[in-house]
Amino acid sequence: MTNLIEVDSVTKRFGAIIAVDDVSFTVRRGEVLGFLGPNGAGKSTTMRVITGYLPPTIGTARVCGQDIQTHPVEAKRKIGFLPEGAPLYGDMSVQGFLEFIARIRNLSGKHKKSRMDDVIERMGLAEVLFQRVETLSKGYKRRVGMAQAILHDPDVLILDEPTDGLDPNQKHHVRELIRDMGSDKAIIISTHILEEVDAVCTRALIIDRGTVVLDGTPGDLHARSRHHNAVVLRMKGDEANRAAKLLRAIPDVGSVEKLDAADGVSLLVVPREGKFVAEAVGAAVRENNIQVVEMHTEAGKLDEVFRQLTVGEEAA
Ligand SMILES: Nc1ncnc2c1ncn2[C@@H]1O[C@H](COP(=O)(O)OP(=O)(O)OP(=O)(O)O)[C@@H](O)[C@H]1O
Ligand SMILES: [Mg+2]
Repeated sequence: MTNLIEVDSVTKRFGAIIAVDDVSFTVRRGEVLGFLGPNGAGKSTTMRVITGYLPPTIGTARVCGQDIQTHPVEAKRKIGFLPEGAPLYGDMSVQGFLEFIARIRNLSGKHKKSRMDDVIERMGLAEVLFQRVETLSKGYKRRVGMAQAILHDPDVLILDEPTDGLDPNQKHHVRELIRDMGSDKAIIISTHILEEVDAVCTRALIIDRGTVVLDGTPGDLHARSRHHNAVVLRMKGDEANRAAKLLRAIPDVGSVEKLDAADGVSLLVVPREGKFVAEAVGAAVRENNIQVVEMHTEAGKLDEVFRQLTVGEEAA
């Protein structure tokens, strides 16, 4: 069985609020799925439904083939969950909290010791082991949350904003960790950091007002951007007008825009429908002897795609 997570027509209502509206998707072993979406889109609610913390109003979620509602114990055994915010049981020490989780997860003896040592090392918790959880800084609380999620080395990880509040070194470290673990698990992470999609995800799901508005690879996301395959040329100011005119004449070029840069001018050459124009642009530059300081092709801007797909709220 390769689909470790199956979400089947899940709807979750809170009174009149429809937090999740008929969402379906699957996640296979080896996939890291990024959950993106504006505040209140329904990311955390979907995660809580998959992990059995909330019952769906309609629909089902299965983890490793086990229905989270009819077989909660079997399903939860397979899941590690990092909820939003800080871990519970703030009055326990980090060590005490992890011991407690190990007991819940039925870890004992040598295996428990090696799992504890592993997560303490991976999450850099050695120096705070005997500190009470509630006295930890925000980033360390997140690390403890992450440690408890991976302690039993589960097949499925559901991580709600795992890098929120971490310093840049820890962000990098946790992304590496997720990438590493992703090869033999099915992982869902939610994030507001769009670069994280490129850094760790094999697939992305954008949710807006409870519904899935895009399900694709990071490449698919980039391809939807107006800037996909756009060419940026940096040059001295006095060259810009002549260059822009020449570049506009290239058949697959849609528009050429002037961007003021601190040291000269940049031209943004936007292709028609994501066509590849870098070669033609390069040729035009050489043939017309345009003095270019720097030239690069853009992959696409994720924030632009995100806004395109989720601007509904402001427009409404
Ligand atoms: N227990 C609850 N009772 C009532 N409404 C709720 C409850 N939990 C969530 N909601 C509502 O459901 C919607 C979705 O919330 P959710 O927390 O899933 O969003 P999110 O995508 O995780 O947002 P964020 O990016 O801010 O974390 C929101 O309108 C929220 O107010
Ligand atoms: Mg959330």
